Amino acid sequence: MIKAARIAPSILAADFSRLGADVALVEDHVDLLHIDVMDGHFVPNISLGFPVIASLRPVTKLRFDCHMMTTNPDAYFEQLAEAGADIVTVHIEVFPEPTRAAAMARACGLEFGLVVNPPTPIESLDPFIELCDMILVMSVTPGFGGQSFMAEALPKIEHARKFVDSRGLATDIEVDGGIGPDNVGRARMAGADVFVAGSSIFGAPDPLAAVDAMRSTIKDSQTG
Ligand code: DX5
Ligand code: ZN
Repeated sequence: MIKAARIAPSILAADFSRLGADVALVEDHVDLLHIDVMDGHFVPNISLGFPVIASLRPVTKLRFDCHMMTTNPDAYFEQLAEAGADIVTVHIEVFPEPTRAAAMARACGLEFGLVVNPPTPIESLDPFIELCDMILVMSVTPGFGGQSFMAEALPKIEHARKFVDSRGLATDIEVDGGIGPDNVGRARMAGADVFVAGSSIFGAPDPLAAVDAMRSTIKDSQTG
C-alpha cells in the first residue's frame, strides 16, 4: 500500500560552501536527505564522498539516503555506514545478481535498495524485490542534477507499485531526477512514495516554498 509521501532533497544541488546551512534550512520540512555519490566511472561525473557525509552526520537528524552511482559500491558499505548513512541504494546495472550485495549492506547495518536506470526494464528488479527496503526509479540519466524529468519513468513506477502491493510488501518506491512541483503529482499518482528533488528545491529562490508547493501538488493528486 502506498505510504505517506516523503520528500528527499538531493544535496547535489545545494551550495557546498554552506552545506550545513542548506541542510539546516530544510531540516524540519523534509523527510530524508538524498546523497549522490559518483565515481567518474559508472557515471561521467564525480560528486562527494565519505568526509562530506561524515561531516553532515552530527548536524542533522535526517536519515541519509545514499545513492551510489559507482562501479563497486559494495567495497565501501562499511565506510558509508561509519560515515552515517542509513540507506544505501545501488544500481541493478552494477549488480545483476544483488543478493550478496544486499546481505553485505545489511551486515553493515544499512537498509538496502536497488536502482534502475532509464533504459533498464523495471521487471529486472522483480526477482529481487524482497531484498529491498526501497527501489529507486531514475527519471533522468544519472550523473548530473538539473535535467528534465523523463515521463517514461511513470509506467515503471506503476509496475513497481502493482508488484509491491500485490505481494503485500512495504517496499518504498522512490523516484529521482527532474522532480518538482510540475510533475510530482504525476509521480505520486503512478505510485511513488519518496520524491528526490535537487534543483527544484536547493536551486529555488525559496527552497521551503518549493517544498510546500510539492507537498500541495501531492495532496491534490489522486492518491495524495
Ligand atoms: C542524478 C542524481 C539525482 C540528482 C537529482 O544523477 O541521482 O539525485 O541530484 O537532481 P535534480 O532534482 O536536479 O534532477
Ligand atoms: Zn540520486
